[in-house]
Amino acid sequence: MTSAVSLYERLGGSAAIQGVTEVFYRKVLADGLLSAYFDDVDMDRQIAKQAAFLTMALGGPASYTGRDLRTAHAGLGHLGDEHFDGVVGHLAATLREFGVSDADIAEVGAVAESVRSDVLNR
Ligand code: HEM
Repeated sequence: MTSAVSLYERLGGSAAIQGVTEVFYRKVLADGLLSAYFDDVDMDRQIAKQAAFLTMALGGPASYTGRDLRTAHAGLGHLGDEHFDGVVGHLAATLREFGVSDADIAEVGAVAESVRSDVLNR
């Protein structure tokens, strides 16, 4: 069922998404399986892009101007399901810390799942 209030609004809008994105990348960078991918990445820009992407993907105002996800990840070597699952796991754990309900976390997980083949270039 589609709810009248977007997932973006339920999570707390712009300020919440910004906070979630910062904490999420802190977890990603602390994860030895994932951190090396971000060695040469400007994390302030990355956080801004990811927050804009999540805002759009969760039904908020569309202001994402980054690359499509297939192009953005195409140059990253040896990306597999374990990396994707790790990233989504950190996102879910962050949302839990922010008090997001299990049902809403599952919905975010479904949105993430919908981009798996693009991110992994399949
Ligand atoms: C649900 C899964 C994911 C989403 C929604 C996502 C989203 C994004 C977005 C929006 C960007 C910015 C694109 C741009 O620069 O224009 C990006 C870049 C990037 N992502 Fe992801 N990503 C996901 C999974 C992953 C995974 C699994 C990894 C590897 C561990 C990863 C590593 C990177 C890196 C290194 C960049 C920067 C690339 C560059 O600046 O050249 N991402 N991602």
